[in-house]
Order: sequence, then structure tokens, then C-alpha cells
Amino acid sequence: MNYIENIDVKNKKVILRLDLNVTIKNNVILDDTKIKKSIPTIKYLLNNNARVLIMSHLGKVNCEEDKITNSLKPVCDLLSNYLNMDVKFIPNTRSSELETCLDELNVCLMENTRFEDLDGKKESNCDDELSRYWASLGDIFINDAFGSTHRRHASTYGISKHLPSAYGFLVNEEITGLDPIINNIERPFAVIMGGAKVDDKIALIETLIKESDYLLVGGGIANTFLAASGYNIGNSLYSADYVDKIKEIIEEYKDKIYMPVDLVVKEDSVVKTYNIEDLSDNSCIYDIGEKSITLYKDILNNSKTIFINGTVGMYEDENFRNGTESLYKTLANNDAIIIAGGGDAVASVNKLGFQDSFDFLSTGGGATLEYIANKKIACFED
Ligand code: 3PG
Repeated sequence: MNYIENIDVKNKKVILRLDLNVTIKNNVILDDTKIKKSIPTIKYLLNNNARVLIMSHLGKVNCEEDKITNSLKPVCDLLSNYLNMDVKFIPNTRSSELETCLDELNVCLMENTRFEDLDGKKESNCDDELSRYWASLGDIFINDAFGSTHRRHASTYGISKHLPSAYGFLVNEEITGLDPIINNIERPFAVIMGGAKVDDKIALIETLIKESDYLLVGGGIANTFLAASGYNIGNSLYSADYVDKIKEIIEEYKDKIYMPVDLVVKEDSVVKTYNIEDLSDNSCIYDIGEKSITLYKDILNNSKTIFINGTVGMYEDENFRNGTESLYKTLANNDAIIIAGGGDAVASVNKLGFQDSFDFLSTGGGATLEYIANKKIACFED
């Protein structure tokens, strides 16, 4: 895969795949980071007199109703604002309007690529006829959808098999920004792994435990580690199917793993803090306690590289924000290389206002985790 500055884009019709998969509630876009981060590549293409047909997915489309909630129309309006020009919205994924839009217009956004999933999952299964059809709409293909580069779908991968292709500025920024935790890591290297479930992070946990010097766990992930260590975690969320696997990991890497020693729980609707040994069958864990925060702070203050994935508590509720916020405050005074990746961690950093404490905030969720775990990007491999 080529880089955008090494491909002739002048006066070309460009198919530009972006990751504009943002959360929309009541027609309001909750976090527009991915949209903002896509602007430099669009502007570069327009400045080179290219005509640009933008494609993206939005959520999953499994039934007709999903087409209503997962339309890219609200994203189109915001893109027009950021570009200060009219971005024409094409409300379908195949049509004569789509086929001729670049004859007249400079920049268009096609409707959600996953509308094609209603017809035999053509987008997600990388259907070749669909890939060829979309490729026929342009002269070259630019993939700047870093957050989707772990998906070999028609719009992320299939098109690249039929057109001269390159990746954009955001993909380059991500590869550069994540480099300190991919190559030549400065040690000690600490990883904070939080979030709800072990299930979709097990490969990442297995990779990072080998590569890190300290693994600090929080959230539902910590609950699974605590259950695997034999503690009573009451009614707390955990991943029962992974307890045995986590036991093996703890056995092999016990010197690197740090679990909370006290927890903020809800018990019969009352918020309380307990040492881990004292939880009752009614306790439901939502945050780490002060003793755990002190333990984790000491480790972070002695680390040279820190990667954060997921939050250590349910920060959206102010009763359970203290763990996440206190650790971010520590990072604000830390001169280690600090990187966050994965949807939840970045959303919490933005919401709590700690963006300036981080060296890099990745726009990828699964894509970032797979890149760290596999050290390669699925879309760019043959
Ligand atoms: C993301 O938000 O992580 C990306 O847009 C990928 O979305 P997906 O998991 O639905 O493919």
C-alpha cells in the first residue's frame, strides 16, 4: 500500500474511504473527532483539483429499520460545515446519480456502505461484484479509514484490488502516533487495561502482558481477574467464559499484574468502598478505590511509556469517576510517553478534559487493538 503523497491525485476522480462511524443520538453527533481528523486528506485532494466521492460505514445494518438510524446524512451536514462547502449527499449505495456525481461535483458523500449488508452481507463479505462496481466510480482509491483498517470489507479492501490505491494522512498519523508502543518501547512500559469485558480483548491482553512491564487492570476486566484469583466479586460484571484463561495468565505473569485492592461498589442502592476481601454477595463493583489508585499511581510515576485502553470505572456516573479521573490527573504531571486507544478510553479523556496530557489519542477501537496485537494492518496485507 502506497502513501497519498506518492500517488498522482491531480484532476483525478477519487474514491475516499473514511471512518465516519460516530455515535449519533437524536440526530446529534456525540463525538466528532473522527470527522475532524478526516478533513486534512479531503482538503489535500480538493486542493489538487481532485473530485472526491467519500464512503464510510455507520454502525451495523441488519434490518430495514437500521437504515433509518444509521444514515450518514447528519455526518454529511457536519462535513459541509467543517469544509465550508456543500458536500452533496447521495442517499443510496448504487444508482445512476452515484455513477455520475463526480462529473459535476467536487465532493460527495455516499450513504452508509453497510446498507449493502442487507443483500447477502455484500459489503462485510467483500463481495467482488460490489467492489468492482464501487471501484468503477473513480480513477484511484484512498483509504484513510484507520478505524476500519482491521476490516477486509468491499469498501476498505475490495476496491483497492481494482484501482491504484494509497492510504491517507490519518492512517499515517496513527501509524506514527502508535509507534512508541509498537517498536523500540521505552521501559518501564505500563498498560492500563479497563473496560467492560475480557471477551474481545483477550488477544490484546495476551500480547500486552508479554510486552509490558506492568499490567494494571480495572473495570469489568479487573472483575474477571479478581474472580480468577478466587475473590468474591458479588453481582459484578465479569467474563465467566474467560476465567480459566485468565487464571493461566495470572499464573504465568503474576509479577507483572496489578489488580485493585479496594473497590467502590453499589450495595442495595448505596455506594460504599470495600477492601477486596470484604465484598458481599450483594456488591456490584463500579470503580477502583483510593488504595488502588495510590498503588497504580506509584507504578505510573515510575513508567516511561504508558498505554491506556478502557477505563477503570464507570466514569460516566460521577459516583464512579474518581478512579479514572485521579489516574488521568497523575498522567498530567508525568513526562512518560502516554497513549490512549480504543473508543472508551479516548471518549473518557475527551469528556474529562485531559487531552493535553496525552502524546497520542488513537481514533481506532478494534483497529488500534488489532494493530498493537498483530503489528500489521489487515487492509494493507495481500
Ligand atoms: C470503530 O468504531 O471501531 C470502527 O468504525 C469499526 O467499526 P465496526 O466494529 O462496526 O467495524
